[in-house]
Amino acid sequence: MEELRVKFEAVGQGHVFRWWNELGERARRRLARQLEAVDLDRLPELQAAIEALQSPRTRNLSPAPTFTLANENYPYLLNDAARALAPRGDKELREGRVAVLLVAGGQGTRLGFDGPKGCFPVMPLSGMTLFEVFARKLRRAGRDYGRVPPLYVMVGNHNEAATRNFWEDHDWFGLQPEDVQFFAQGEMPALDAQGKLVMAGKDQLFTGPDGHGGVLQALHVKGMLADMRRRGIRTISYLQVDNLQTPVVDPAFIGLHLDEGAEVSLKVVRKHEPAERVGIYCLDDGVPGIVEYSEFSEQQAGERDGQGRLRYWQGSIAVHLFEVDFLGRLIDRGADLPLHAAHKKVPHVNDQGEPVEPAQPNAYKFERFVFDTIPMAGNVMCLEVPRDEQFLPVKNAEGAFGPEGVKQSYQDYFGRAVEIALGKKPPALEVDPLVAENARELIEYLKTNDDAKSWDLTKPLHIT
Ligand code: UTP
Repeated sequence: MEELRVKFEAVGQGHVFRWWNELGERARRRLARQLEAVDLDRLPELQAAIEALQSPRTRNLSPAPTFTLANENYPYLLNDAARALAPRGDKELREGRVAVLLVAGGQGTRLGFDGPKGCFPVMPLSGMTLFEVFARKLRRAGRDYGRVPPLYVMVGNHNEAATRNFWEDHDWFGLQPEDVQFFAQGEMPALDAQGKLVMAGKDQLFTGPDGHGGVLQALHVKGMLADMRRRGIRTISYLQVDNLQTPVVDPAFIGLHLDEGAEVSLKVVRKHEPAERVGIYCLDDGVPGIVEYSEFSEQQAGERDGQGRLRYWQGSIAVHLFEVDFLGRLIDRGADLPLHAAHKKVPHVNDQGEPVEPAQPNAYKFERFVFDTIPMAGNVMCLEVPRDEQFLPVKNAEGAFGPEGVKQSYQDYFGRAVEIALGKKPPALEVDPLVAENARELIEYLKTNDDAKSWDLTKPLHIT
């Protein structure tokens, strides 16, 4: 213990022992365990992240090349290029070389739901949860490609037990338990304005999940990359748990990724308006990457080309493909993703040891972002996809990306497909992901299903 105390004092962090003498044996052990896990050599990196936040470096941006696979009848048809590429992705899926990685370790603060975000009941009629939607999409992939891609779910310490129990209680939603693995991401401490580690209690350091970019280290440390290699996985389909509309695997996307020899690929949608708060795929000093909306000046975000279209239109939807070998190489050479600081309200104890819920941001939290792998990749491929087909995240408590807004957009999107196929749309609608994942599939299903013609479309319609 003395050794630990000396180490913390040497870097000006001795305050973490302030209440040590008051603590009982168990509390001391817990605090000591937490402190042992703090990598003090990294403190300068945390400080550098705060400085980068306070004075962002100037960027030299230019637009980046992007493929588009939707045709003019957008969004219901794929163009010839997509149709030509799909068989290559199809083959990878059939031969079991693709895994699905779902990141679900966030805190879902904005949504404010009590429980892991994946347990949120998102579907408009059945109340099916996000986790079940993803599981059903995987089962459908199993039907389409003759095998279910293995699923890796990244969780955080705060929601690991709840997530595992939820899946177990629901019999893994019909998937094989050995094909579903959970692994916890790392944690990061927070620093206050004076650069001191924030204490959440007298016997507790404040820590929070280390961002979706924590996935790189977590895949390695928790043996998941090794597990993927054992299973012969070469490509990872990376998804975020809150995007209801994303396909779990997309053969055209995989086909193009392989065709281009990409190590990382990403999907983007066309920005609605210059001020939309979404990370933009572009070149920075000629290197591809994602630049946060906050780093664009108003003038730059609104720049248009000769045809009046936004120059920086590629909004990232956080859907990626990663080559397992690429991530392995980053690990082997000891590379890690950069830390980003954010000024946040962090609950803590004051000098008297009393708990404080701050009303204003009081400390810096640190996260890594998964898209920081992009500038490290030898080759990157970017694909534009139709927004309403593939991007519908549950982020907030209200508004377009709140539960009600999402349910409405979901029903509007599939409602148009029902109208195209059956001539009328029902007042409320839900489509089991086992039946169709997008409007294209639903139209095809409805047109070839004779029963559909006799459905009563004046009532809510649940297509199962
Ligand atoms: P968001 O950045 O939207 O965060 O995460 P969030 O935790 O869901 O919500 P807020 O910001 O607290 O309101 C996008 C995706 O990345 C995952 C989330 O679970 C979500 O799928 N994520 C985020 C992690 O897995 N770990 C993290 O540390 C952060």
